[in-house]
Amino acid sequence: MPPFLRRAALALVAVIATAALPAQAHETLKLDAPKPNLAPTPPMGWNSWNKFACNVSEQLIRQQADAMAASGMKAAGYQYIVIDDCWQKSRDADGNIQADPERFPSGIKALADYVHARGLKFGLYSDAGSLTCGGRPGSAGHEFQDARQYARWGVDYLKYDWCHTGPRNAEAAYTIMAKALRESGRDIVLSICEWGTDHPERWGPTVGHLWRTTGDIFDAWSGKKDWSHGMTDILDMQVERAAHAGPNAWNDPDMLEVGNGGMTTTEYESHFSLWAMLAAPLIAGNDLSKMDADTLRILTNADVIAVDQDPLGRQGQRIWKQGELEIWSRPLQGGDLAVVLFNRGQAPAAMRVDWAQLKLPADQKVDVKDLWSKRVAKGVAGGYGGTVASHGVIMVRLTPMR
Ligand code: GLA
Repeated sequence: MPPFLRRAALALVAVIATAALPAQAHETLKLDAPKPNLAPTPPMGWNSWNKFACNVSEQLIRQQADAMAASGMKAAGYQYIVIDDCWQKSRDADGNIQADPERFPSGIKALADYVHARGLKFGLYSDAGSLTCGGRPGSAGHEFQDARQYARWGVDYLKYDWCHTGPRNAEAAYTIMAKALRESGRDIVLSICEWGTDHPERWGPTVGHLWRTTGDIFDAWSGKKDWSHGMTDILDMQVERAAHAGPNAWNDPDMLEVGNGGMTTTEYESHFSLWAMLAAPLIAGNDLSKMDADTLRILTNADVIAVDQDPLGRQGQRIWKQGELEIWSRPLQGGDLAVVLFNRGQAPAAMRVDWAQLKLPADQKVDVKDLWSKRVAKGVAGGYGGTVASHGVIMVRLTPMR
């Protein structure tokens, strides 16, 4: 065949081959091992990012673990101590990830041991790209090596971020790390942090235990700052997501800001109540060693935590909205319901939920417990309400009498 014909034939073959490729050719890997049952209810813990950003060290982490164990947080159900970005510094000649030797001179294994000795679990952060969001080495190309290292160190939880990932396909990239973790020989929760960019609700349930649904939260009632959003803005982005959540597969509206100082006590009560309605992971983001009484009271409210941790695992939904007023409801195990009356307005508002809005017969007698005031009303028919503070909630648990 003359060379020009040969070239044309080859070009034709190339065109045909390209056309035959699936539209989104990408890395594929089969997850052989089943997802470990590590988050039947949303994970509870603490993470360094919201308060300390890159200012992490082994002293800080030990201090937070001590405070979690001693303050009542552990007793309330919090268990993970997670170091977010900036604990890593480099890779050694063999590609092994190295902690910052100045900030973590005793090494990660010793720190994990310290956390475990307090009856808590230990978590780390990495990224599916070449670099983390803070510019430290990411795990791209080192997934299996890193997962084995995490297992040797005693890591129980991995938050896996999405900066510097270039054209990588999110499902494929997270699947590789999921496979690496499942083959690491240790049970490790996988917290997917790709900000809801590539529909993590579609593939997240098989791959990880929780997935971020949005950009970052920042410590304010509302507003936008770079890639971060205020609390109520994040809340609005959670509407319509409830169907995807369930045991071992949670929507993650990002970590808590309770106690960080940018919102009022009333606003933090609303933040905590609404995150519980969302079946959100409860990952405190404040300094546990310096909590005032209100911060501790909010973060350890056992009734609100029980809603978050309800074993049925159904996420709550907004069932009514009129101007600044909203009603959220969440079905709980055994036929109970959690309801939040939420007032975003500037003035107190009289609010009420009618049993009909909850698909209960109007004459149904219901025991109502207010989860913040702790008042109980027995045998209430028709509906329930009260005056809701500006930026506040009334959160109740309803037990229909049988
Ligand atoms: C991203 C994540 C945050 C945090 C930072 C760390 O912005 O969404 O939660 O982990 O990176 O650099």
